[in-house]
Amino acid sequence: MAHEAIVRAESAQALTEVRAGFLGRKGSVSGLLRGLGDLDPADRAERGQQVNALKQRIEDRVAARRSDLENARQASALSSRQLDVTLPGAAPPQGHLHPLSLVERDMREFFAGLGFSVEEGPDVETEYHNFEALRIEDDHPARDMQDSFFVEGGHVLRTHTSPVQIRAMTGRKPPFRFIAPGRTYRVDHGATKSPMFHQIEGFIVDDHTTFADLKGVLHAFARHLVGDDVRLRFRAHFFPFTEPSAEMDFSWRDGWLEWGGCGMIHPGVLENCGIDSRKYQGFAFGMGVDRTAMLRFGLPNIHMLFDGDLRRLEQV
Ligand code: DAH
Repeated sequence: MAHEAIVRAESAQALTEVRAGFLGRKGSVSGLLRGLGDLDPADRAERGQQVNALKQRIEDRVAARRSDLENARQASALSSRQLDVTLPGAAPPQGHLHPLSLVERDMREFFAGLGFSVEEGPDVETEYHNFEALRIEDDHPARDMQDSFFVEGGHVLRTHTSPVQIRAMTGRKPPFRFIAPGRTYRVDHGATKSPMFHQIEGFIVDDHTTFADLKGVLHAFARHLVGDDVRLRFRAHFFPFTEPSAEMDFSWRDGWLEWGGCGMIHPGVLENCGIDSRKYQGFAFGMGVDRTAMLRFGLPNIHMLFDGDLRRLEQV
């Protein structure tokens, strides 16, 4: 009777109830054990053994049934979940370089291939290096509080990377060629303007460089960044530190995109750095880096590069 009830229990819960019906405090087998006291002492020992043996058999069958039920439960869980062990595992999240770092590295590598070394200067620059030595006059708009962040004591947050020209050339004997990528600052704000942005400067000084060399280097650079069919356009312009000077654009989709400025380094700038301008000449150029990252990664807004929103940067 107990055997049938045990085999019929279809769940662990039902089985627990069946067991309690026999072996629980009010169970029938427990009742038998309690009844032993009423027996003849002569019969008591034998009867006690029988009831204990019965109790043990019930325990064994309950345990066996319990393990059968558990096996059946696992088998059905496995078959219903259809575990595909060939699926790839969950990859741990992985970081990557910031888009600006990617672009800047790419630029450094390109110029390393042309024999340029990297030169650096401070973000907080002297007015001498940022303006005077580059022949930027006192009445130039860049010298206005509206356009530049001035710091006490004749310093300014550098408004361009051109002051690195002065630092690199002073006390150095040509020939040399450098690039200077870095942060720059202007009082400016908008979808494509940020008060902090990035430029890359490049310059060569030796005794045979011409404007044609400048065009050749910039064309190779543009092809590297944009693609082999890119075209360059040079527009005559004025910069105090170059002569002649040009602004350049590269072809983009159906039009032109302003890229930066360039020119032959002004003899006065060379002299300010102690370089004999009758013997040496060179070219220089400077352009924005953020713009290149925006183009390459299709970012509509320069601030996406700086606001540190990982969800947006991860899409890049
Ligand atoms: N420093 C200039 C600017 O920030 C860009 C520039 C123009 C750099 C001409 C040059 C150059 O080296 O030759 O607007």
